[in-house]
Amino acid sequence: MDSFEFRNPTKLIFGEGKIDSLATEVPQYGKNVLVVYGGGSIKKNGIYDQVMGQLNKIGATVIELSGVEPNPRLTTVKRGVEHVKKNNVEFLLAVGGGSVIDCTKAIAAGAKYDGDPWDLITKKAEVEEALPFGTVLTLAATGSEMNSGSVITNWETKEKYGWGSPLNFPKFSILDPKNTYSVPKDQTVYGAVDMMSHVLESYFHPATNTPVQERMSEGILSTIIKTTPKVIDDLENYEHRETLLYSGTMALNGVLQMGARGDWAAHNIEHAVSAVYDIPHAGGLAILFPNWMKYNIDSAERKLKQLAVRVFEVDPSGKSDRDLALEGIEQLRTFWASLGAPTRLADYDIDDSKLDLIADRAMARGEFGNFRTLQKEDVLKILRMSL
Ligand code: NZQ
Ligand code: ZN
Repeated sequence: MDSFEFRNPTKLIFGEGKIDSLATEVPQYGKNVLVVYGGGSIKKNGIYDQVMGQLNKIGATVIELSGVEPNPRLTTVKRGVEHVKKNNVEFLLAVGGGSVIDCTKAIAAGAKYDGDPWDLITKKAEVEEALPFGTVLTLAATGSEMNSGSVITNWETKEKYGWGSPLNFPKFSILDPKNTYSVPKDQTVYGAVDMMSHVLESYFHPATNTPVQERMSEGILSTIIKTTPKVIDDLENYEHRETLLYSGTMALNGVLQMGARGDWAAHNIEHAVSAVYDIPHAGGLAILFPNWMKYNIDSAERKLKQLAVRVFEVDPSGKSDRDLALEGIEQLRTFWASLGAPTRLADYDIDDSKLDLIADRAMARGEFGNFRTLQKEDVLKILRMSL
């Protein structure tokens, strides 16, 4: 294992009806609250009314920032920072999926920074202070509810970057499986693909002696594979939604990542694709990740074989390691396709005309990939395999 320190200060509040905890959690941080949400799903499913009911109960002064885009944009972050400064906001409450939470993280840090919040996202400046914030999660996917990462798009320059700071952890996150009942089938599938990708990114790491991390990762992957089709068939099944919700948080709250720094190249390439084409993050991952695996099969053969046997329960008898590795990749691709996830960039009408720009965007912070380092020509090859 690599040496590590682990600290995750987010208070996780999990279970049915837990939205009531807002009335005790929020007053600990202030009464001027900016509620951040997306395009209106929380108004349709009643979560907005529940949140406002709790905030009214404690006499909070509520300011709203609505319309956070999937793949949240810098322009929206700046709008949020203005709201905070104008209204003396003391606490931010994100109500939504990963995009709303990531946007809230950027507002929380941006409001305490004198310059352009993009400086923090591009790491030109360090986050030195941030406003406290909490979350009410409505979509099982990114793990942003219990980590310190955020991903923001600058649509004008076609750049999308992940960034983070220890000051970016939510103070609390409220996870009620019932709040995910209204997530439609396609977003549920994207969520499952994203959380599986987070486990897989962590699984492909160069550290040795990580048997516990590997078994925990395989357990989460197997669980998501067994549960997702059941959720798709029965969107309001409490137990299955609960399992998926917990899986998403565990996939990227730092627990699996202890002692082993994962690869994250597939994510980096996907962020470049969605910076240029604004496609759903997990749609891009479903296309790119199996091709990343195939491209790196020489270095990844042992792990891919293990994935095939332990997670996809492929019978190893009479098969070479290479055959098993290839079968593992195929099983993953087939599983995601069976859920309705895309398999080729052409599914989003993406052709080869902007591959060079995508590769440049992916390389903007230099070479990357902690398990296997990639250069621009490697990125281009993976993109061409994905057309
Ligand atoms: O905007 P609204 O109307 O709320 O609708 C959203 C949105 O259209 C909808 N939705 C959310 N909860 C719902 C619901 N619809 C019905 N019922 C509900 N309960 O779902 C759509 C997608 O929401 P979004 O927040 O964009 O999805 P997700 O959670 O997958 O977040 C994606 C973003 O997170 C970034 C991605 O790059 C992307 O920008 N990531 C963040 C990470 C992190 N912070 O750790 C890690 C990830 O790898 C990822 O990169
Ligand atoms: Zn992701």
